[in-house]
Amino acid sequence: MCESLSQRFSVLDKALISTQEFWRTEPFHLSINESLPWQADLDLCEFLINLEVEEIEQLKGDTSKLVECLTPFIPTLTCLWAQCELESLPLTDEYDTHHLSVGIPGRKWQQITAMGKVALQVNRSDQNWLEWCAGKGYLGQWLAQQSQLPVVSFEWQESLCVAGQALADKHQLPVTFVQGDALSDDCRKVFKSNQHAVALHACGDLHAHLIEHVCQQNLSGLTLSPCCYHLIQDDAYQALSTLGKHSQLHLSKTDLRIPLQETVTGGERVKRHRELEMTYRLGLDCLLQDVSNQQSYTPIPSIKKSQLSQGFANFCQWAKEQRNLDVELKELDYWQQRGQERFIQMERLSLVQQAFRRPLEMWLVCDKALRLEQAGYDVSLSTFCQRDITPRNILIQAIEK
Ligand SMILES: C[S@@+](CC[C@H](N)C(=O)[O-])C[C@H]1O[C@@H](n2cnc3c(N)ncnc32)[C@H](O)[C@@H]1O
Repeated sequence: MCESLSQRFSVLDKALISTQEFWRTEPFHLSINESLPWQADLDLCEFLINLEVEEIEQLKGDTSKLVECLTPFIPTLTCLWAQCELESLPLTDEYDTHHLSVGIPGRKWQQITAMGKVALQVNRSDQNWLEWCAGKGYLGQWLAQQSQLPVVSFEWQESLCVAGQALADKHQLPVTFVQGDALSDDCRKVFKSNQHAVALHACGDLHAHLIEHVCQQNLSGLTLSPCCYHLIQDDAYQALSTLGKHSQLHLSKTDLRIPLQETVTGGERVKRHRELEMTYRLGLDCLLQDVSNQQSYTPIPSIKKSQLSQGFANFCQWAKEQRNLDVELKELDYWQQRGQERFIQMERLSLVQQAFRRPLEMWLVCDKALRLEQAGYDVSLSTFCQRDITPRNILIQAIEK
């Protein structure tokens, strides 16, 4: 593992640039061509083609094993994954705050208390809290209860502000909700230099704006877990740090979705719906390509999951009406089978991209951390909970020196 953030970033940057052909793929569209895109790497193609459906499933659920299997074909994975090692902070249940957790799912509560604990550790008595994009402000309430220091909870949705304020008042906590837009200039007024800002799962632009405000207004600290990197107004990622800005790695919105492809909390029903929907879409596309002789995918609008249970024929008829398709729907059993084969091919291809999800996320996280370091903060990276509680488990903490 690298000693400094900038070293970690540079190693990731170089390794991700050199392996773009493996992770900049869109498995759904690639599976249409049926041949694997890495024909130069015959051994890798052979390994993927020989995987049985059960093996694909198993590797999808076990990224460490997957990386181990793919490393002989893509040796750079070793170096990429070495940069993903982070100190993991222990979960704790030692705080008597269960009365605050009423109505919050267990997993969410674990995240709140784990993150709250890390923020508390660097807390100073002259410091206030700012909870960014607070939702109902559970984290802020936990911090207020623990520290008895004032919290400002900033949130866009009026209804969440009202509900959060009512909860805080009920527990007689020193929390004040402020309704506003985190992306507007107007929100500058909520920042004070004696604040420590906290943000649990703030999306793309929301966490990027927070980092800029923290740096420009010299807040005393920040504890942040970033999320949904693709939720940005620009078409592509705008790096925050100098090293990031100079990088040759340009990430589109599609690329920014890669770290979020994982659905560890999805469950069997979600999995079944996804398989059915993909099979239907790919099956219909095979049929359309056969009749029109064209090679590009025909986009079909999104469909209610409940409609999938009515079968492939119903899906094709619905899609035909939606898109005014000039196609005769015949031999549908055959085309459904073809869709199933292409689905399996897509799953094979996705395994390669899966091995790059965390390294890409680390690159993004390091860019944010470097921006804070550039502004003079002591910055640390860690994981604040296990990945089965949330895969978005990276914590960036910045403390005024
Ligand atoms: C992913 S949720 C996280 C909420 C909370 N921190 C949590 O973990 O439960 C993001 C929150 O950001 C809020 N939000 C979205 N856009 C916003 C904006 N432009 N300004 C302020 N808040 C915004 C949403 O309403 C939502 O409550």
